[in-house]
Amino acid sequence: MRRALAILASVVAAIALCSARMPAQATAPPAAAPAPVGPEQPIQFSHAMHAGTMKMPCEYCHVPSRTGDTLIIPRADMCMQCHRTMDTGNPEVQKLAQYAKSGSIIPWVRVYELPSFVTFSHKRHLEHGLTCQDCHGDVAREERVARVTDISMGGCMSCHRAKHASLGCNTCHFLQQ
Ligand code: HEC
Ligand code: HEC
Ligand code: HEC
Ligand code: HEC
Ligand code: HEC
Repeated sequence: MRRALAILASVVAAIALCSARMPAQATAPPAAAPAPVGPEQPIQFSHAMHAGTMKMPCEYCHVPSRTGDTLIIPRADMCMQCHRTMDTGNPEVQKLAQYAKSGSIIPWVRVYELPSFVTFSHKRHLEHGLTCQDCHGDVAREERVARVTDISMGGCMSCHRAKHASLGCNTCHFLQQ
């Protein structure tokens, strides 16, 4: 017990010594804030690796739907264009191959999703010059996509107000007369 206390005391002393040296560190450049981490997903797919390190364009995977309102989340067979031959020993890639083989949809946990009574179109916003980052943050840094912006009614309204876009209720809600 006494020995444990002695060790503890020396640890405390060491910490005190370190903090006494702290001012020297104040001049070091600030480290970048860690990327936010979103929900656990059925396959550990990393945007930081694919969109960040490998610099794959967002649009390579997120192709617009026919109307352009939705940006498609790719199916497993699209990922297999590369993973039929790449990293095939990785257990997460093997899970992916299993989904592709059975033809079933990967049950991704959605991060940005509006209730069905809200109208939203990617096309309208992208045509206006907004970027993915404006509404989703720096996804290319994230291991697991996190919700970093406010997609509540208040969040939509504050940008609409700032950009002089429409604020009428029927812009975003289909109202029955
Ligand atoms: C253009 C080629 C390409 C496409 C398309 C692609 N990947 Fe990858 N993926 C890679 C490469 C390259 C690596 C890194 C291999 C390495 O470093 O060992 C990788 C790594 C991975 C890993 C392993 C990560 C780890 O922990 O090492 C998973 C899981 C993965 N990809 C899933 C996917 C999914 C899901 C899709 C489709 C949405 C996809 N990939 C599409 C090229 C691709
Ligand atoms: C290799 C294919 C691939 C690339 C490249 C890619 N994504 Fe994704 N993205 C996915 C997959 C698969 C998911 C579903 C799993 C997840 O949430 O990580 C996803 C999910 C998302 C989501 C969450 C959608 C939701 O509501 O659940 C956003 C937002 C997103 N991506 C934005 C981006 C942006 C922005 C870029 C470019 C910086 C990008 N993605 C590049 C494959 C890709
Ligand atoms: C004006 C804000 C805004 C911009 C700009 C934007 N998004 Fe989104 N995104 C959203 C909202 C809101 C949702 C949820 C839509 C829903 O549930 O109907 C969403 C959903 C998604 C989804 C899930 C599938 C879908 O369409 O519902 C993906 C993938 C995605 N965004 C990727 C991107 C990428 C990639 C870009 C850039 C090319 C981008 N987004 C630009 C706001 C935006
Ligand atoms: C970062 C800014 C920004 C955010 C956030 C944003 N919007 Fe917009 N939105 C705009 C701009 C700018 C326009 C005008 C585009 C135009 O005139 O073509 C617009 C247009 C629209 C339109 C089309 C209006 C029309 O006249 O057809 C709808 C619908 C819409 N937004 C819904 C939403 C919803 C729902 C959200 C929240 C989930 C949202 N927006 C968040 C900037 C934003
Ligand atoms: C720019 C887009 C936009 C406009 C304009 C807009 N809303 Fe909404 N509204 C939303 C979004 C997004 C949600 C969903 C919020 C959420 O998921 O928490 C919502 C939710 C709602 C709800 C449900 C609230 C709840 O607690 O679930 C009501 C009611 C509503 N809006 C009424 C209105 C009325 C009335 C107007 C006109 C004064 C209006 N909205 C204008 C985007 C908009």
